[in-house]
Amino acid sequence: MGRNGQILRISVIGTGYLGLTHAVCMADLGHEVLAIDVDAEKLAKAARGETPFFEPGLEPLLRKNLDAGRLRFTDSFAEVGEFGDVHFICVGTPQVKDGGGSADLSYVFSAAEALAPHLTRPTLLVGKSTVPVGTSREIIARVHAAAPAGELVDYAFNPEFLREGYAVQDSLTPDRIVFGVTSDAADELMRAVYAIPLASGIPGLTMDLETAELVKVAANSFLATKISFINVMAEMCEASGADVIRLADAIGIDERIGRKFLSPGLGFGGGCLPKDIRAFRATAQDKGVDSLVDLLTTVDTINLGRRDRVVTLAREAVGDLAGKRIAVLGAAFKPNSDDIRDSPSLAISGRLADEGAIVAVHDPVAMANAARVRPDLRYADSVHEAAQGADLVLHLTEWADYRAIDPDGLRSVVANPVLIDGRCTLDAAGWRAAGWTVLVPGRPS
Ligand SMILES: NC(=O)c1ccc[n+]([C@@H]2O[C@H](COP(=O)([O-])OP(=O)(O)OC[C@H]3O[C@@H](n4cnc5c(N)ncnc54)[C@H](O)[C@@H]3O)[C@@H](O)[C@H]2O)c1
Repeated sequence: MGRNGQILRISVIGTGYLGLTHAVCMADLGHEVLAIDVDAEKLAKAARGETPFFEPGLEPLLRKNLDAGRLRFTDSFAEVGEFGDVHFICVGTPQVKDGGGSADLSYVFSAAEALAPHLTRPTLLVGKSTVPVGTSREIIARVHAAAPAGELVDYAFNPEFLREGYAVQDSLTPDRIVFGVTSDAADELMRAVYAIPLASGIPGLTMDLETAELVKVAANSFLATKISFINVMAEMCEASGADVIRLADAIGIDERIGRKFLSPGLGFGGGCLPKDIRAFRATAQDKGVDSLVDLLTTVDTINLGRRDRVVTLAREAVGDLAGKRIAVLGAAFKPNSDDIRDSPSLAISGRLADEGAIVAVHDPVAMANAARVRPDLRYADSVHEAAQGADLVLHLTEWADYRAIDPDGLRSVVANPVLIDGRCTLDAAGWRAAGWTVLVPGRPS
């Protein structure tokens, strides 16, 4: 519930990974929430209490708040405009196709412009989608021009740092809440929205709009840089016969460095980090900040190079890939998610298939999404089915289930017991003891 027990009327525009999680969590804090999307199927599912994507813990919380009458869905912007004291924009900001990596802001602008004619009283519009610095000012100008309440519509930018797979926990108990504002009134209202987490001691940081916009992309760029750093260390370890995991453990113990995001492997993917660093690079290019362009270009190149490395290792392991049977464990871009956007695993699977390999993919939850974008791959209901007669097994998404695989049992179904652990998380010694040849990028064989 809001400040002083205040229940606010909150609307959420866009019910994807970010928006649906945000709507459910806002309702769970006690607010009255109305959410809107342009995808009728998504809305119908959510209104029935079903999440249109896999996110641990979200569906029960959705049902709880639907049952409590705190959360509703609509397809009417008029209803949303009438309803909300605070409107959160949570629509997608994907990478523009052939746009040098810049962000496609058309969804954000069209959401704001669809709502604007219905803003007939003072209200607060809040940007939550990740956007390039300067976008908030452009939204303000467009809304002020189109809203009947015009200048009375205030604006805030409140970036979201949730991780898919931990979205509920990250939304309800984030490390910090950032408020980019242009007025004290907006800051006060945002603090009322988040009164419960703030009261529990989570820091709320108020700043100008531009800094808040940069905080989000700077955080993602730092994380991406850290991942690419350990991945070039993996390359150096391979070139030197050293072990990148022991190296990561040893440097990560230093609290100035930290062990998190220092796991070598296939690098980052998903709907955020890759497109966010490319959009940030495009912004840096526009603003002439060449050193940032160089940094982010290098981070991206190193990251994509990890996929090449695994394809090369596969060729080294089995020779010509044409006609070879390859089992791929994992399709999602990371465990505990069914998101396959820019999934390293799926990109590698596709490249192996393009070279003529017969690829059978297994994933605990992401196969339906994967089959939609790569219908040419085979999909198996179990690890054993994927590995049947395989010349090579690739471990490409580090689901906990895969750490529980019995290497002895799996050896009995493959044609050739060779494993590439692209995520460096399996017990290589255990697999070797069971008769497997195990290749791990960055670790001695
Ligand atoms: N997914 C994450 O983990 C995450 C984390 C932090 C920030 N973000 C940011 O949040 C934003 C959304 O990401 P996502 O992963 O939720 O994307 P998504 O594609 O899952 O969801 C976007 C939703 O917006 C809807 N939409 C598009 N145009 C609309 C309009 N005009 N009106 C109403 N709805 C509309 C789409 O139908 C879709 O359901 C992006 O900017 C992303 O970078 C995402």
